[in-house]
Amino acid sequence: MENTVDISTQLAGVTMRTPFGVSPHNLDKPWFPGKKAAELFAKYVEAGAGYIYIPALVPGEPTEAEKNLDFPTLFSSQNYVGRWMKINLDSQHREVIAHIYTAKNLFNYVSWAKELMDTLRPTLPKDVPVIAQVLVHDMDPGKWADQVKRVVDAVEPDIIELNTGCPVGAMGHLDAKNLPPEAKWGMMMGAAPEVFLPVLEACVKATSLPVGFKLTPEVGYPRMLYLTEEARNAGARFVVTTHKYFVVPPPDIWNGGRGKYPGVSGEANILSDIGGPMLRFSMYKATALISKNIPGIDTFAGGGITTPEHIVEAIMLGAKACQTLTGIVLNGIEFIRKSNEWLKGYMKECGYRSIEDFRGLGLKYLKSSTEVEFYYYRAKIDEEKCTQCGKCAASYCPAISMRDGAPFVDEKYCSSCAMCTVICPFDAISIIPRA
Ligand SMILES: Cc1cc2nc3c(=O)[nH]c(=O)nc-3n(C[C@H](O)[C@H](O)[C@H](O)COP(=O)(O)O)c2cc1C
Ligand code: SF4
Ligand code: SF4
Repeated sequence: MENTVDISTQLAGVTMRTPFGVSPHNLDKPWFPGKKAAELFAKYVEAGAGYIYIPALVPGEPTEAEKNLDFPTLFSSQNYVGRWMKINLDSQHREVIAHIYTAKNLFNYVSWAKELMDTLRPTLPKDVPVIAQVLVHDMDPGKWADQVKRVVDAVEPDIIELNTGCPVGAMGHLDAKNLPPEAKWGMMMGAAPEVFLPVLEACVKATSLPVGFKLTPEVGYPRMLYLTEEARNAGARFVVTTHKYFVVPPPDIWNGGRGKYPGVSGEANILSDIGGPMLRFSMYKATALISKNIPGIDTFAGGGITTPEHIVEAIMLGAKACQTLTGIVLNGIEFIRKSNEWLKGYMKECGYRSIEDFRGLGLKYLKSSTEVEFYYYRAKIDEEKCTQCGKCAASYCPAISMRDGAPFVDEKYCSSCAMCTVICPFDAISIIPRA
């Protein structure tokens, strides 16, 4: 049975030994230049990553300070800034961890990527393709096409991805209504089809390799569908279904509204981006609705994946491959190995022999709310599980009240909405057919 489970997949026609790997991540740690990056990427490969991502390759060459990782100079020029902050999304500070990240500039150079690949290539398995990401701080299609050619020649990747979702540029402008043209890159470009599509078209023409792009959630729905359809028509072969959200972090309410980032001048609250668990539903939405509605373009699910189950969920919603960054931040690089092992076990248990056996299965059940019939059920309390805590009766439902210390449901007023099943901390309530 062992040999019959095959977790390899194909993205844009390129084979990957597993659908799972690490999202591109640039900038906030000194792991570039290339030789240092190669050490890290070798760990990803060793842990079983299905592909390698070279993040955001910009035109130009590193400055002396960048080459030498001279942080005092980089910080004094503010050319190297990344900072994390933990946010509890849940009001009771439970379970939910997200990160906010701020940055001022992006740099990762083709010469570094070449050095990285020269070091890594000899040990890279054939079924671990290299995805090179291109980013130009400009909206000129010619400049993007030139950068694609340069990257392809120097790095020899298998896949090209356009980073048209990066929120970093947006962080430099408090009011984006009057953005200068040179600031229309990353998310600003990805959310503006009139800027993005000519760039994509030029990049597709510039190479014979498959080209895809990274969707910014700022595109919104349903614009993401129009944009992806036009991108497919222009030759895009895949779409990464979520970049990070552009956000304003919460102010410190116990400190006069100041910002909460450590080590920042003026206690400022800085325009930021956010990744992690809060992105997962944006990722499912884009993955499912693009997979369902727009044939001919592969979905590459990224954003908020932190358990192996999330990988399967994304694949069931149509993804050809998946990626995480927060998953390895929270769980370590071992998360790749554990996820691959879990995936194999899951497939054996369910009798799936290949990724294609279950890819997209969830799309069959994806319906609009007007296509389904909602049954008229009623709430039922399991007396054995109920601790009589009273929580279900403390919200706004007119049907539940506490009687003699126990919850009671007046069926006449029960609309079978199932809110109480969500409220009960002991899973003591379910909705069941009426007699
Ligand atoms: C420090 C850092 C650097 C990043 N650099 C890049 C990058 O160069 N290119 C890119 O497309 N995304 C970049 N990202 C975004 C991630 O690839 C990913 O889309 C994001 O973290 C959301 O996924 P997650 O919820 O799994 O973290 C970066 C994220 C972080 C935290
Ligand atoms: S919330 Fe659950 S455990 Fe608490 S009283 Fe209601 S049914 Fe019982
Ligand atoms: S199902 Fe909805 S209406 Fe019925 S008891 Fe529960 S919360 Fe109230």
